[in-house]
Amino acid sequence: MKGLVVGLGSIGTRHVNNLMKYSDVDIIICSKRTDIEKNIVEKCTILDSIKQCLEEKPDFAILSNVTSLHVLTAIELAKNGIDLFIEKPLSNSLENIDELYSLVKKKNLITFLGCNMRFHKCIQKIKEILDNNEIGRVLSVRAESSSFLPDWHPNEDYRDSYAAKKVLGGGVVLSCIHEIDYLYWFFGSVRELFAKNKKQSDLDIDVEDLSNSLIHFKNNIIAELHLDFFQRPDFRSCNIIATKGVINWNSDSNIVKFFDSEKKSWLIKFEDTAYDRNDMYVDELDHFLNCIKLRKNTINDLSQGIETTKIALAILKSSQNNKVISFD
Ligand SMILES: NC(=O)c1ccc[n+]([C@@H]2O[C@H](COP(=O)([O-])OP(=O)(O)OC[C@H]3O[C@@H](n4cnc5c(N)ncnc54)[C@H](OP(=O)(O)O)[C@@H]3O)[C@@H](O)[C@H]2O)c1
Repeated sequence: MKGLVVGLGSIGTRHVNNLMKYSDVDIIICSKRTDIEKNIVEKCTILDSIKQCLEEKPDFAILSNVTSLHVLTAIELAKNGIDLFIEKPLSNSLENIDELYSLVKKKNLITFLGCNMRFHKCIQKIKEILDNNEIGRVLSVRAESSSFLPDWHPNEDYRDSYAAKKVLGGGVVLSCIHEIDYLYWFFGSVRELFAKNKKQSDLDIDVEDLSNSLIHFKNNIIAELHLDFFQRPDFRSCNIIATKGVINWNSDSNIVKFFDSEKKSWLIKFEDTAYDRNDMYVDELDHFLNCIKLRKNTINDLSQGIETTKIALAILKSSQNNKVISFD
């Protein structure tokens, strides 16, 4: 198989390194960089335009360029019948999304949105607990993701990053869409939401660095979501209160624990003692490649990517207009 990686930045390099472990995949890279690691130069075909890359006839592509270019790049590749792994978020607008969706359907393409938290073992455990209805009826949910943007790529100037720039699809809501994605994975479609976003810190960026939302799902579950770009240290958590007790996970411990309301004690449901961040990326790639081979739908296809993009855009719109946004 031939795999094309578009954009050799931070996540593109990670995907290339992970792809190199597959002996049956020839890697083509679309990048304008001139400072590419020797190991990658030796093992991959590097070209600087999509047109040239298409001549190599790739079977699938990983889109790891800046957010604002995902959809246009995907359309160009979809026209050529190439299966698509699109990095999160799908886009920073709904522009051209219908065209991409029609092409994907017409050409029968396999699609996947790179929301790697769906491959985080603790998040998977929470999903399993919810699906097995182990904790009773969910009453309330709180999720958060905090990090300090300049720490994301310590060797680069954060002000130049896509996440810092509106025009490239940045901002904490779109760049940290993982929590929106896993809440959607857990609880399904949204009924309505209200959000307050702001640029609060002294970071030199033209996008929001804080987002607080209340998300009301169609199944009547209400989640509070906190996202920010300015907390040191990084921290992620998910707390679910239900009739039988509380499920809690955070990124410090990587333990999923359950407080049993009857027994009045905490129980460890899952502990990821050997947590390695790259495992999520390896597992999602494995999943995507298997789905391509079997011509089977992925667990996060384009239609789900469109849904989570709509939720993220509604969070932006709600705050801009100071209004509750309702979904059909
Ligand atoms: N799933 C995850 O955990 C995860 C993590 C990080 C990022 N991402 C997503 O992946 C995408 C890329 O993020 P990244 O952190 O890898 O960014 P990055 O390091 O800044 O790399 C972005 C790449 O996009 C290409 N590009 C095209 N037009 C550009 C422009 N006008 N300005 C800057 N770069 C441009 C560049 O390719 P060349 O330099 O190769 O030509 C660049 O290397 C984003 O959509 C982001 O949300 C996902």
